[in-house]
Amino acid sequence: MKTKIAAVDRLNPSPYVIAHAGTLIKQGKLVAFPTETVYGLGADAMNPDAVRRIYEAKGRPSDNPLILHVCYIAQAESLVFMNDLARKLALKFWPGPLTMVLPAKPEVPLITRGGLDTAAVRFPDNKIAQWLIYYANTPIAAPSANISGKPSPTNAETVLADMNGRVDMIIDGGSVKVGIESTVIDLTNPERVLLLRPGGLSREAIESELHMTLEIPDSLSAKRSPGTHYRHYSPAIPVRIWHTDSEFPECDYSSAGYIGIHKPIHATKRVVLFSDYTDYAHGLFSAFRRLEKDGYTCIIAEWPEEISGICEGLRDRILRSAGD
Ligand code: TXA
Ligand code: MG
Repeated sequence: MKTKIAAVDRLNPSPYVIAHAGTLIKQGKLVAFPTETVYGLGADAMNPDAVRRIYEAKGRPSDNPLILHVCYIAQAESLVFMNDLARKLALKFWPGPLTMVLPAKPEVPLITRGGLDTAAVRFPDNKIAQWLIYYANTPIAAPSANISGKPSPTNAETVLADMNGRVDMIIDGGSVKVGIESTVIDLTNPERVLLLRPGGLSREAIESELHMTLEIPDSLSAKRSPGTHYRHYSPAIPVRIWHTDSEFPECDYSSAGYIGIHKPIHATKRVVLFSDYTDYAHGLFSAFRRLEKDGYTCIIAEWPEEISGICEGLRDRILRSAGD
């Protein structure tokens, strides 16, 4: 398969390009596209054959369900049974980096929801993504557009590196805004809302809107997000975490790269400094990819001191990339 790449302006995308991409989706083909969080690998969520191609292209286990992307709230209502809490959050935070797991309507193919009786819905805050869903005239199932287990792509070059020859088209909308994936919450039981994956929308924002605390499912719970069973977000080289109040991790510093917001206390060959935690989250995955590509043998990542805001998601991704 030859992969076509089309560059479009993120704020003023060409309707011709997006309409063409929408037609490809409707024909059962795969189109990678930007969202505000990371790039997605999209197919018609209602077409089981097209969805099967997503799993093949990514090398993803088929029991790991996909997010259905929509471009208006009523479209989500056609896929899942929304309750009052879900509607409240949709009105407040959509479009935005919030994914809600709810009881699925029977129309959603089993393969799209990994055989579960729930489905995940999200309305992304990116014009290209919204128009693509609109022109395709169907919800779009899309995991992150990386080979399974690798860091999620935050620009079109990285999508191409992983997906060349595996997808029909890549829409290049430049670098994404957030850099880590959406926050996934499970609202199937409105008495106990679960945080399945911290991400682009902070826990505090959701909790203050719902006036309740989000619970973390325990590791044995069947409610756990299936995706969290798998090793994730890892570059091919080891990632070591530096807790700023303890010793600097051991490794061959002459070929090590460092990422963080504070200067390292030991010299490493390369130092990537971010201006704050938002910037750190934004650049995390692309820094992983770059250091790997440039031949570094180890990455030392500063552990965020803060817990709240973007830091809960940032901590989660750093932990997983280190395999801890
Ligand atoms: O920001 C994002 O969410 C990106 C962009 C492309 O939208 N997408 C993304 O998709 O990160 P993916 O497939 O890489 O991660 C989706 C997560 C997985 O951990 C999956 O297990 C979980 O959502 N998930 C999806 N459907 C679910 C369901 N019905 N129940 C529980 N977890 C679900
Ligand atoms: Mg992913």
